[in-house]
Amino acid sequence: MPELILVTGGAGFIGSHLCEALLRRGDRVVCLDNFCDFYSPEAKRRNLSSCLKDPAFTLVEADITDRAALEDVFDRFKFDLIIHLAARAGVRPSIEQPELYSSVNLDGTLNLLQLCARHGPRRFIFASSSSVYGANSKLPFAESDPVDSPISPYAATKKAGELLCHAWHHLHQISMLCLRFFTVYGPRQRPDLAIRMFADLMIRDECVPIFGDGSSSRDYTYITDIVAGILSAADLTRERLCYEVVNLGGDHGVPLLEMLRALEKVSGLQARIQYLPPQAGDIPHTRADISKAKALLGFAPRTSFEEGLQAFWNWLQDQI
Ligand SMILES: NC(=O)c1ccc[n+]([C@@H]2O[C@H](COP(=O)([O-])OP(=O)(O)OC[C@H]3O[C@@H](n4cnc5c(N)ncnc54)[C@H](O)[C@@H]3O)[C@@H](O)[C@H]2O)c1
Repeated sequence: MPELILVTGGAGFIGSHLCEALLRRGDRVVCLDNFCDFYSPEAKRRNLSSCLKDPAFTLVEADITDRAALEDVFDRFKFDLIIHLAARAGVRPSIEQPELYSSVNLDGTLNLLQLCARHGPRRFIFASSSSVYGANSKLPFAESDPVDSPISPYAATKKAGELLCHAWHHLHQISMLCLRFFTVYGPRQRPDLAIRMFADLMIRDECVPIFGDGSSSRDYTYITDIVAGILSAADLTRERLCYEVVNLGGDHGVPLLEMLRALEKVSGLQARIQYLPPQAGDIPHTRADISKAKALLGFAPRTSFEEGLQAFWNWLQDQI
């Protein structure tokens, strides 16, 4: 049955793909976003160009830290589900602006949980992150691993968000899924993320900074696989009252230099590498254990890194 779904951060990279997928399956979507200047607000408006043509889509420009504005939204709409993606993302900038990250990622999340408890719905999905695993050396990362040692303010806000979600699940019987996304890539990828940043630098024939020796690795997850995981999580919150933390990853670790070589192959460009010291807050390796996602959500990443990178590159060419 079609549902009315609030997607916070719906104009962003992941959010805009999610809004499109929800509309495709017949849901009505209220996208709430403040078009913050973390990167180009114009790019975010372009992300929504197809959604805005759909009568089942409503855009609300508001800030999740603005409690009065949120009250107004919850008075206007009776949501079946909240998918909370709005956040200040990114590890490195969170070290420069911890107050901002705390305000948006913690106070903003708290506002949404409070309104959810007061007005309904009893279903909530929270965008968490692989960064909560900190510098854990045991790979792959499993949800049962300790995550008490975040190494950046961003990671700390995401772990704290998961804890807030648990408390609101317990106190208000809200069905809650915290999804730990592992480095998401694909069309519309944020410009601060490595694949996009490297591609932009290579196009301009500028140096590509490699922090460390290039052996750090990431579990890259293609955007349509992440969206499929979120949709399955949405279905699970309808089926039963639960609180679950679930990894959504691509199921393979790709070393940084290997990623760069693959980007060279797909683009036909040569990277001019500049080696720099490792950066504070960066996790050396990420790799998701996705057995829980498989069992609980039927999650199965379908896009190989080569295919995903090609689709990303094709999209980037259209932007030039
Ligand atoms: N992209 C990844 O690899 C990745 C990995 C792990 C977790 N995540 C999480 O997934 C979510 C989406 O990430 P993304 O990559 O699409 O980022 P994004 O920056 O493209 O999207 C976030 C959106 O939230 C909006 N926003 C920011 N502050 C807001 C506020 N105060 N009020 C309302 N809207 C606000 C932004 O304008 C943006 O459109 C975030 O919570 C992020 O932390 C992303």
